[in-house]
Amino acid sequence: MIITNSLAEKYAEWLTNNDDELLTQIHQSTSQNHAHAHMLSGHVQGMLLTFMSTLLNPHNILEIGTFTGYSALCLAKGLTVDGQLHTIEIREEDARIAQENFNKSQYSKQLFLHIGNALEIIPTLNKTWDLIFIDADKTGYIKYYEMVLPLLNKNGLIIVDNILFHGQVLEEDIKGKNAIAIDNFNKHIAQDTSVNKVLLTVRDGLLFIKKK
Ligand SMILES: C[S@@+](CC[C@H](N)C(=O)[O-])C[C@H]1O[C@@H](n2cnc3c(N)ncnc32)[C@H](O)[C@@H]1O
Repeated sequence: MIITNSLAEKYAEWLTNNDDELLTQIHQSTSQNHAHAHMLSGHVQGMLLTFMSTLLNPHNILEIGTFTGYSALCLAKGLTVDGQLHTIEIREEDARIAQENFNKSQYSKQLFLHIGNALEIIPTLNKTWDLIFIDADKTGYIKYYEMVLPLLNKNGLIIVDNILFHGQVLEEDIKGKNAIAIDNFNKHIAQDTSVNKVLLTVRDGLLFIKKK
């Protein structure tokens, strides 16, 4: 199912600030060399992440699902001068590429890349978070959410990607384990009265969640 208007998308690409040199380079090299390049957040979503991070000016950011490091670098732009971004990636090869990209960044000393399963790593970080970006395996979303919600600071924000799952959650008969997992996550959030939420139909659907 096509859930975006390609003309509107192109227009948004045009009107949105350009990526900086490093982000442009990561986008290009991921597109050219990675079999799953579509997983990268992309220019307009990346700029939205930067906007939100800059507005919040977070001290601690947690990202679940680093891939090649694009979204982490978008989020890092809003960090306080002494702030930290911790990002978790299970695939060693993606983590290696991300670390190479982080090493080229002005935020390199503020970026902490953890390799392994986020469900095991998050409890070891012993931190609370101002901004959390959930963008890893879809079947883990409910567990990630339940694990990080108690660690979200007052006025903190959780952003969750792929909430529309390529339009598959809009189908009457939802098929495939990832689409079913996202649908279950969405129903889980819908019935959680302890949080405020808003779904933006940007790209594959971005959900913003904040404690009441
Ligand atoms: C959609 S990609 C992340 C894209 C990235 N946030 C960006 O916008 O550029 C999802 C990533 O999560 C990683 N991942 C999947 N399961 C994971 C887990 N249990 N723990 C940590 N990372 C995981 C995948 O290897 C993949 O690189």
